[in-house]
Amino acid sequence: MDRSLIDQLIETVHQELIPKLQIESIDPHDPVKISYLPYPWQKLGAGNYAAVVYHPDYPNWVVKIYAPGRPGFEEEVEVYRRLGSHPAFSECLYATEGFLILKRLHGVTLYDCIQRGLRIPKKVIKDIDQALDYARRQGLYPHDVHGRNVMMYQGRGLVVDISDFLDEEKCSKWNNLKRAYYWLYRPIFSPLRLRLPYFFLDIVRKSYRLLSKLKKFCDRILYKIYRN
Ligand SMILES: Nc1ncnc2c1ncn2[C@@H]1O[C@H](COP(=O)(O)OP(=O)(O)O)[C@@H](O)[C@H]1O
Ligand SMILES: [Mg+2]
Repeated sequence: MDRSLIDQLIETVHQELIPKLQIESIDPHDPVKISYLPYPWQKLGAGNYAAVVYHPDYPNWVVKIYAPGRPGFEEEVEVYRRLGSHPAFSECLYATEGFLILKRLHGVTLYDCIQRGLRIPKKVIKDIDQALDYARRQGLYPHDVHGRNVMMYQGRGLVVDISDFLDEEKCSKWNNLKRAYYWLYRPIFSPLRLRLPYFFLDIVRKSYRLLSKLKKFCDRILYKIYRN
């Protein structure tokens, strides 16, 4: 890793990106919006907390900037500290005031794979399982592992978003995604080469949220009934 190149990048981020960039989180359940991105920065992705961009002169790193008012920056820094170096995860090179400079992971999110009809081999799922086991051994709790937070690159699996890994509350998203992979994707979608358009994936995402809320609500009621 070339330290002087990273120092240059840090300076560029402080001088040319952060003062001009405009991002906002309109709804905490939807990805943040970049309303202005100074040239020549390029958008790589957006999650519900932050936007991720890169500079063409520094193609191996990305900058993840939290939208104003969205929490989780300090936690994400701590997760990267505990993760150290592992091939399925990114690494944090620098972090301050709501943004992080991370190693760029090349690849396509599984969400985009489904939409583009790219075949996802079993190895990708197994790699991610192993990476999550590694995270557990580092004292972390894999959380919020869904289709936009995992990627495929040259037939291997990567975990791109670890920001909620300090959250000890049980999260079933990865198990549900795996269930959908083995029960729906492998027997039906993959052989028929079916692609799912974004609006359909969006409906799945929103119904999933609704069903999870409903389940929590029912669990609470059942708990109250049986406790009495
Ligand atoms: N290190 C990285 N390398 C390449 N792309 C990334 C990287 N980190 C994030 N991305 C892209 O940016 C998107 C949003 O980043 P993410 O960390 O999931 O944000 P959030 O915490 O808001 O959910 C991801 O879905 C992915 O497409
Ligand atoms: Mg994310």
